[in-house]
Amino acid sequence: MKKRVGIEALAVAVPRRYVDIEDLARARGVDPAKFTAGLGAKEMAVNDPGEDSVSLAATAAARLIQQQGVDTSKLGMLVVGTETGVDHSKPIASHVHGLLKLPRGMRTFDSQHACYGGTAGLMAAVEWIASGAAAGRSALVVCTDIARYGLKTAGEPTQGGGAVALLVSETPDLLAVDVGLNGVSTADVYDFWRPVGRREALVDGHYSITCYLDAMAGAYRGWRERAMEQGLVRWDSKLPSEQLARILYHVPFCKMARKAHAQVRLCDLEDSGNGPATPEARDEAAKSQASYDAQVAKSLGLNARVGNVYTASLYLALAGQLHAEGAALAGQRIGLLSYGSGSCAEFYTGVVGEKAAERMARADLDTVLAKRERVSVEEYERLMNLPYDAPEAIAPEPGTFRLAEIHEFRRKYAGA
Ligand code: HMG
Repeated sequence: MKKRVGIEALAVAVPRRYVDIEDLARARGVDPAKFTAGLGAKEMAVNDPGEDSVSLAATAAARLIQQQGVDTSKLGMLVVGTETGVDHSKPIASHVHGLLKLPRGMRTFDSQHACYGGTAGLMAAVEWIASGAAAGRSALVVCTDIARYGLKTAGEPTQGGGAVALLVSETPDLLAVDVGLNGVSTADVYDFWRPVGRREALVDGHYSITCYLDAMAGAYRGWRERAMEQGLVRWDSKLPSEQLARILYHVPFCKMARKAHAQVRLCDLEDSGNGPATPEARDEAAKSQASYDAQVAKSLGLNARVGNVYTASLYLALAGQLHAEGAALAGQRIGLLSYGSGSCAEFYTGVVGEKAAERMARADLDTVLAKRERVSVEEYERLMNLPYDAPEAIAPEPGTFRLAEIHEFRRKYAGA
């Protein structure tokens, strides 16, 4: 029998503070409806320099191990997906490995390709296990990022930060991945980038949306072709994409998931051979509110309250989806679309596990979010203006890590 491989459990870490998106809109003299209805945001995570990509990753991983009782002696790989690296050479994975006192006999590395780096890491882990090379060991994949465009930029309301840690194993209680069915699409584009030495990303915002939609169309069609060969979906009265119970997307801002879903449907409607005859009618059918409500809307609960988390955004959507409907989706196949600027997109599917609800209950996501403090726009601006290398002396909350200091270019962490 083919091995079942996938995500056994997950944990989420978010910065301690957030700003209300309507407060931000008012402070910028923008109609709040632009950020709420136009972008789909509610709240935006705000990190301080002590909550860097390492401390968020280590907190999420420590939480996963503690909440789910992970036997760390069975771990053979630790991959950190990130585009918020802290060093050109030393990976975040080595910090996390040290902070969590993980076994020496592990492969550790970071995986970078904008927001796609987490999925690249996940696939490396899944395929390592599926190949048999893991010999029964599990992998830890941590997606961690701080999305930062800068004050008063167009990207400002689409910032955020946090980390999602995934345990990958032969016991996929959350999601058994359909190994080998992935569709991928790569293009060399400058839609979003962050040159070495810059803290803030550069972005060609509207072009980045076009690049995302173009790449995802290629990735989705690639997946659909393989899924059809294996009889997982077919052309019939329901579109192939409608044969998936839910579809989760990379979420730079929530409205993007709506655009992405319409694009997936448009691919099906254009290729079906018996869909609406005119481009206008196909566009209309692609934007179906009923389909969005049924297949996408419930995945966005966490993303709307945290903002963009780059590599972790898709996995925050997975967390939100299974938090909302883990029991109802048990045994059903869902789709996942990862996009990283630059660019690479990957569409893959998996079957939700019977124990998804139980595993998600242990992740205690309501408490993770409820513990946060709402700050004013003034305080958010103060935090944004703090130098990255001089963290404020704040004692870490129990179970979390913080950057304590950077001395002679060496980072020291406290906590957990
Ligand atoms: P903008 O130009 O300020 O906003 O920037 P806009 O004018 O496009 O308006 C946004 C939406 O609000 C529009 O809706 C407006 O109609 C609507 P749409 O037409 O798109 O459906 N709107 C209103 N709605 C209700 N009431 C109102 C109102 N006013 C306007 N009063 C933009 C928006 C997203 C471009 C900007 O925030 C940005 O540059 N963000 C960063 C880039 C980004 O997130 N790109 C997404 C795709 S690329 C990606 O996902 C990769 C990424 O995660 C990075 C990585 O891979 O590492 C970014």
